[in-house]
This record gives sequence, structure tokens and C-alpha cells, in this order.
Amino acid sequence: MSLLNDLSHIFGEAFEQAGLDRTLGTVVVSQRPDLGQFQCNGALPAAKTAGRLPREIAQDIVNRVQADDRFAFLSLAGPGFINIRLTDGFLAREMQVVADDPRYGVSEVRPLRVLVDYGGPNVAKEMHAGHLRATIIGDSLKRISRYLGHDTLGDVHFGDWGTQMGMLIIEIAHRHPELPFFDPDYEGEYPMIDITLDDLETMYPLVSARCAENLEEAERARIATFELQQGRAGYRALWQQLHDTSMAAHRRDFASLGVEFDLWDGESTVHNRIGPMIQRLIRSGVVTDSEGAVVITIDQPGDKTDMPPFLVAKSDGGYLYSTTDLATVEQRVDDLSRRLLLYVVDARQSFHFEQVFRAARRSGIAPESVGLEHIKFGTMNGPDGKPFQTRKGGVLKLRDLISMVTEAADNRLSEADIAQEYPDAERAEIARKVGLAALKFGDLSNHRASNYLFDLDRFASFEGKTGPYLQYSAVRIKSILRNAEEAGLSPGPLVPPSVETERNLLLYLARLPEVLERTFELRAPNHVAEYAYDLATQFNRFYEECHILRETDPARQASWLKLVALTLGELDLLLDLLGIEVPERM
Ligand code: ARG
Repeated sequence: MSLLNDLSHIFGEAFEQAGLDRTLGTVVVSQRPDLGQFQCNGALPAAKTAGRLPREIAQDIVNRVQADDRFAFLSLAGPGFINIRLTDGFLAREMQVVADDPRYGVSEVRPLRVLVDYGGPNVAKEMHAGHLRATIIGDSLKRISRYLGHDTLGDVHFGDWGTQMGMLIIEIAHRHPELPFFDPDYEGEYPMIDITLDDLETMYPLVSARCAENLEEAERARIATFELQQGRAGYRALWQQLHDTSMAAHRRDFASLGVEFDLWDGESTVHNRIGPMIQRLIRSGVVTDSEGAVVITIDQPGDKTDMPPFLVAKSDGGYLYSTTDLATVEQRVDDLSRRLLLYVVDARQSFHFEQVFRAARRSGIAPESVGLEHIKFGTMNGPDGKPFQTRKGGVLKLRDLISMVTEAADNRLSEADIAQEYPDAERAEIARKVGLAALKFGDLSNHRASNYLFDLDRFASFEGKTGPYLQYSAVRIKSILRNAEEAGLSPGPLVPPSVETERNLLLYLARLPEVLERTFELRAPNHVAEYAYDLATQFNRFYEECHILRETDPARQASWLKLVALTLGELDLLLDLLGIEVPERM
């Protein structure tokens, strides 16, 4: 149910009665609130096909809907726009339906089977800011998709199958000559080595620098990776330990961000499909042999940049990032029956995804009916305008980032004198939630494709367009309802609004379904963030003007409380869709 849908329906019928297409009756929120609350622009395109004057058609439509008690006024503007203002009675009736609908804002379109690929950390590496952005944006898109009623899976797509694995395995061999991992004849149980993600993290850059400098070493790592992929037992056993150690650390990080995945899959998950996939591609004649390598031609007429063939397997039989991504498309389409794949990954991987998607189409792995989209995002920058780093110039670990925002939140709570007298544990929990809200909202309030400045002072503020401001607003609204309840008052049916701030709040609440729909269509959570902020602002205006506890008309008072409850419901929902938790009190 949505107010705009209802209005479009009313106008659509009028167009139909006038012998015109009913889709012309689409009603939108007015761009010019001074002229009307809504507008219908269908008379212009109608005039073209009907060969009549647009103003004449518009007048005809107005005459047909005018008799109604639903419209306070309908006026013509320009060449044939219809400006619409609702009666307060109609607005209240419509919003009462919303108030009674637990599935308000849920999409009426056909449910899709969606998979969101986001997060994407790698073995032996701490998550960095890029993975953080993927996580925050992907999690929000997953939540929105789900709320709209789409069957949605989230996959972490762990980077666990590349050359870094071979490099690390060789390195550990050198450090532990006594261990049996490298003995090809060993048949016993493999020992557990004592290694942490921190150890791997220190080891990784050293090894990778050596491989970059020394061709022989790079070659050894390549062979080790190949043998690992082919199934050499000792390598697989060691790989498993490195995988599990890294994954456990990443899982902890995701948990501290409040993010869950349905699938903890990775590049290695699809390894066993690759051989059969290549066989199928060879049989169907899609791939060609290019000096021993298996490739798919993916260039198209009209290409502006050079599109080299897509490499499915190297001439030595080794697999790459592109190989696992192609096989993963197949797994998602065939085994998981997904029809829309959203890859929330750094914009710098655009070329890679363009190649993978083209290869998936050319090979028939993803038919046209399956949507393949790279949901690109920009970088989170430091004050120097470059991708955010620590003061020493290193990659900021997610855990340290979280401690940093929690501390900033804690300071802000003291400054604003919020939650100071609460028990320590509760206060710490509030600081954690506020810190995460600062981080997530700071990110999600920007369009994902833009680069933004990580400005913790601004993000953690309780004033302005911030996560903490919205949390605080929600908590305050909760306490308004609690206080009313203690005074023996409860929400009742909506009555027609009598003042502008109240009317505006109702109109604002009515926008939810369209906002969610549009956010998902554009895969852009910043629209939800924006709307949540505007809603809080509209609420504050209403609350300043309408003194609920002092109101003498009980019906109006109860209606106002209903409006408060509706606002809280929406705000809670919007914050939840952004992955932001609201404390019980603050
Ligand atoms: N592990 C990759 C990285 O760190 C991101 C994975 C994104 N997902 C994918 N299906 N390629 O860049």
C-alpha cells in the first residue's frame, strides 16, 4: 500500500475513462511544494498520441476527479501539469491504513532471487577501509532487498585461493624445516602450527616484496599455488589452517560491526567446478586455445577500450581470480538459483567485472535473464585527500578503527552529557552503538560511487546529518511515548491534521514505499540515509509546535501520539536498514 500508488490509481482511472492509457495517471511528489503537494504530468505525453491540446486533456482529467472529497484543490499549471493538494481528511484516512499495515513499504513487485557479494576480505590480510565500505554498503543493500520481500543471500566471498597462498606456504616451509607439510610421502596427521593473523600479516608483505624482486622466488610461489590447487595433501592441510585462522579473525570483525553472512564462501569454494566448467566450455566451442591458455573472446563492436580475451586458465593450467569468479557465477546461477547478482566491490575493479560479466554472457553461464551488476564504490579518504591510512602511513585495521570510533563516541557522550549516570557496562554499550552509527552513517550518507573524507569529529557529532543525531532522535521519541504512557495516554486513530507541521509529517511518512523502491532500484542506500534525516527534521518541527501533553482535545492528542509512534516505527526501520542499532535509552 502506498499513497502515491493510490493517487496514481485514481488518476489512472480518470485517464482511462477519457479513453487514454491509465499509466499516464502516475502521480509524483511535487517539485514545487508552493503549488501543490503532488503532481500528475500525464496530459503532456497523452496529448502527443491523442492529437489534443495538453491543457484540454488536463482539464478533462481534473473534471473527472474533482467531484471527490479527496482533493482540496486541483489546478492546472504550465502547458498541462496538474497540481494536487489533498484534503486533510483524505490524508488522515490514507495514513490510518498505513498505520494498520505491518508490511508498510514492502514492495508489490515480483520477488527476485538476489545474491549480494560483499565484504571480500583475504586470507592473511586484515580488513582495510575498502573491505569496510563493501561491508557497510553491502549489508545495507541486503537488508533493503530483504525488507522489500526479495529472497536475498549475502556471501562474504573470501579471497583464499590466489598466489598469496603459495607464497605463504613456501615461507612457512622455510621457517619450519622440521614439519611434514612439504614431505610428499607423508601420510600421517598433520600437526597444528602456532600462527595468528598478526603473524600472517607481518609475514605477508615481506614475502610478497621478495617475490616481486626475485623471479625465482615468484616462480616457486606460483608452482606452490598450482600444486595447492591441484590438491597436494600437505599444502591443503596448511592452507586449511591459514584459512581458518584468517576467517576466525574476520568473523570476529564482522560480528563487531553487527554484520552477518548467509554464506561464508570464498574463491576456493568453487574449485571443484572449474575443471568440469572448462570441459563444458571446450565442448561448446566457446573457448579458444591461446598458446596453451584457455580464453574466451569478449570484445564487442563499439568497444572504446581494448578488451583482451578473458583468461579462464593459464597455459600451465593454473587458475586466477577471473577463473574463480566465472565459476562462482555458475554456482550462484545453477546451484543457488539466483537471478540477480550484486557485487559490492571497489570501483577500481570495474574492468575485472566487465570482463567476468562479458565472459559469463558469452559462455552462456549467465543467461540474459540473470542480472549481473558491479555495485562500485569510491574510496574513504584521509585529510590529505588520499585513501585513509594510519598516522604512520599503514593500513588501518578494522579493529583499530572500531576502537577509534568507539572512543570518539564516548567523548561525545561526555561532552553532550548523555548517558553519564548509567552503569558502566550500559554506557560502554551505548558508546559502541553510537560509534558504529557514526561510522556507518558517515559512509552511507554519501553516494557510494563518490570518494568521501573520513571526518570522525563530524561523523560522531550529535548535531547535523549524522548517525548519532538520528539515534538520539529515535531514543528521544521512544521516551516521549514512554512519558505519555506513564501519564495514562495512548495513541488513537489519526484525525485530520490541523497545522502545517503535522500535515507535512504525515506527507513525509507517506513517502516510505517510494523511497525504499528507489533506493533499491539505484542500489544506493544514501537515499534511505537522506530520508531518515529529513524525517527526523520534520518530526522535530512538528514536536516543537504541537504540545502533546498539554493538548486539551483527547482525540487530537491520541492522534498526535499515533503520529509519534508512526515516526518511531519508520525511523527504527530506516536505521535498521542502514545497519544502525538504536539503544533503549540514552
Ligand atoms: N577479495 C577481493 C579483494 O580483496 C574482493 C572480492 C570481491 N568479490 C568477488 N566476487 N570478486 O579485492
